[in-house]
Amino acid sequence: MKRFVSACVYILALGVAAYAIWAYAFLPLGKLMGPEMRANFLAHRIGIYTHVFAATTALILGPFQFSGWLRRRHPWLHRMSGRVYLGVGVGVGGVAALYMSTFAYGGPVAKLGFATLAAAWLYTGFRAYRAIRAGAVAEHRRWIVRNFALSLAAVTLRIYLPLSGLSGIPFALAYPIVAWLCWVPNLLVAEWAFARRTALGAPVVASKALAPE
Ligand code: HEM
Repeated sequence: MKRFVSACVYILALGVAAYAIWAYAFLPLGKLMGPEMRANFLAHRIGIYTHVFAATTALILGPFQFSGWLRRRHPWLHRMSGRVYLGVGVGVGGVAALYMSTFAYGGPVAKLGFATLAAAWLYTGFRAYRAIRAGAVAEHRRWIVRNFALSLAAVTLRIYLPLSGLSGIPFALAYPIVAWLCWVPNLLVAEWAFARRTALGAPVVASKALAPE
C-alpha cells in the first residue's frame, strides 16, 4: 500500500511538472486557458512564469526528498536538493503565488483560497527549515510532510478541474471551490496520517542523516 501511494505521488507530481514545462516553456502564454485567464496571465507575465517554473522545481524534487534510501546513501544530496526545494520551489514559487493570488480568476473566494494556500506553503516551509537547522528531525519531518501535501495542491487542482467540467458545474462556479478543495483535504490527510502513525506507536523520527552538519 505504501509503495502504491509512493508510486502514485511520483507519477502525478512528475506528470504535472512535465505538463507545466510543456505548456509554459513551449506554448504561447495562456494558449490552453479561457480568454479571461489568458488576459490575466498576459498582464502578469513575470509573476506567472516565475511562479510556474519555480514551483515546478518543488514538484520535481519533492518526491525524491522522501526516499529513505537517498537520505541514507547520499545525505548531502538530500540537503542540497532540500535547499533548492525550499528556497526556489517553495520560497520563490510561494512568493510569486501570493502575488498571483491577488489577480486570480474566480473572485474573492478564489483569491483568498490561493492566498491562504500560498501563506500556508511558505509558513510550513519556513517551519520545516527552522526545525532541521535546530536538529529537530521529527519536527522537520512533520512540517515537510504538511508542506509537500500543499505542494500537491498543483496535482489535485488539475484532477478536480476536469472532474468538475465533466460533472457539468460551470467553470466560474467550480474554480473558487477548487481553489480551496485543492489543498484543505491534502492537509487533513497529512494530519490524519500523523495521528494514525502515533496511534500505531510508530516512531515519527526520520534518519539522522537529515540533521545539519
Ligand atoms: C502550493 C502553493 C501554490 C499556490 C498558492 C499556487 C497559486 C497559483 C495561482 C494563484 C495561480 C494563478 C491562477 C489564476 O490566475 O486563476 C497559479 C497558476 C498556476 N500554477 Fe500554481 N500555486 C501553487 C503551487 C504550484 C505548483 C507546485 C505548481 C507546479 C507545477 C504550480 C503550477 C501552476 C501553473 C502551471 C499555473 C497556471 C495555471 C494552469 O496552467 O493551470 N503551482 N498558481
